[in-house]
Amino acid sequence: MSVYLNNAATTWPKPECVAEAMAVFLSRGGANLARGSSSERDMGTLNSVLDCRMRLASFFNGHEGGDPRYVTFCSNITEALNIVLRGFLKPGMKVLTTSMEHNAVMRPLRRLEKDGVEVTLAGSHRDGRMDVEDLKDKLSKGSFDLMVMSHASNVCGTIQPLEEAAALCREAGVPLVLDTAQTAGVLTIDVSSLEIAALCFTGHKGLMGPQGIGGIVWKPDFALKVEPLVTGGTGSYSHLETQPEDLPDKFESGTPNLPGIAGLNAALGWLETTGVKTIAAKEEETGACLLDGLKKLDGILLGGKQDMAGRLPVFSINVKNRDNGVLADRLSRAGFETRPGLHCAPSAHRTLGSFPEGSMRVSPGYFNTKAEIDAFLEALADAAGE
Ligand SMILES: Cc1ncc(COP(=O)(O)O)c(C=O)c1O
Repeated sequence: MSVYLNNAATTWPKPECVAEAMAVFLSRGGANLARGSSSERDMGTLNSVLDCRMRLASFFNGHEGGDPRYVTFCSNITEALNIVLRGFLKPGMKVLTTSMEHNAVMRPLRRLEKDGVEVTLAGSHRDGRMDVEDLKDKLSKGSFDLMVMSHASNVCGTIQPLEEAAALCREAGVPLVLDTAQTAGVLTIDVSSLEIAALCFTGHKGLMGPQGIGGIVWKPDFALKVEPLVTGGTGSYSHLETQPEDLPDKFESGTPNLPGIAGLNAALGWLETTGVKTIAAKEEETGACLLDGLKKLDGILLGGKQDMAGRLPVFSINVKNRDNGVLADRLSRAGFETRPGLHCAPSAHRTLGSFPEGSMRVSPGYFNTKAEIDAFLEALADAAGE
């Protein structure tokens, strides 16, 4: 028996319709996007990509009434964040972020810092929640060009006060870029009412799609100010040797991950039918059961929030005097999949007080059962007691 408790890395299993849609695309569809004629196959690809763009625009309540042109596809959220940050920030500009970010945000920012971009970190509380007063203070004094933040921590599941942060950015006239890696598909996010400049997503976590597909939902006026990182053929404007300015072509050079888009489209259909609220409720129930059990075990140190309010079911744990890597290995041999270490987020672990040792992250998902959680708690008690 294997129990998968590493959904913060990628969700598993995927709904069956995802693999089916990818297999159908590869075995029966398979045409390139806008690089053919008007054959059934060509039109099939065109329509399925448009359908996925429309679904995403509607799912996140995109700008301009959910205009699908403002959805860009790329390979994952890391690439999406690079497109936005490196395409917008120029030497001399100032960017604000938080101390809880993943390296998908921090590494592009540290690289830009070398080119003369000023990077400032707003503080966070010990439970991983951003310090709203500090954010307010920095925004009022800083004349920032951009703010970038994750919606929830991939280390300890703390959900950030997005509405408050977005309102503060709006008041200060600072465009907001959102990393939704841990929340898309699990929490409702309204890009239009929050006036988010660029929502970055990855397809393979809460959106339940395959790996290798992600993207951006843009605010049109912000997209105009961003330079494309990659230029090349788009299947459009073929008489021009310069990059088209129109979206989605501006940011989508080269053949996209079409099987990935087919899989993501099917996953979005499954999400619509199942309902984000139903998924969130099920995950909260499973998370509460796990948290309850963790609290009853001796010697467990839990990073971040100590209750279920304002968090996702992503738990960062250590066992007193035990190495989290060794612990995760023991549990893996017993059939329980977790993730030890620093989770690509050293600054978040510093904030939570778990740097450099890191923690063992346990992240159940929609498909986990109570019986699996009970079995895990028993195995953890055994491994911790050894
Ligand atoms: C908060 C956060 N941001 C960014 C990423 C990077 O995601 P991807 O590897 O899909 O680009 C992750 C992945 O774990 C994440 O949790």
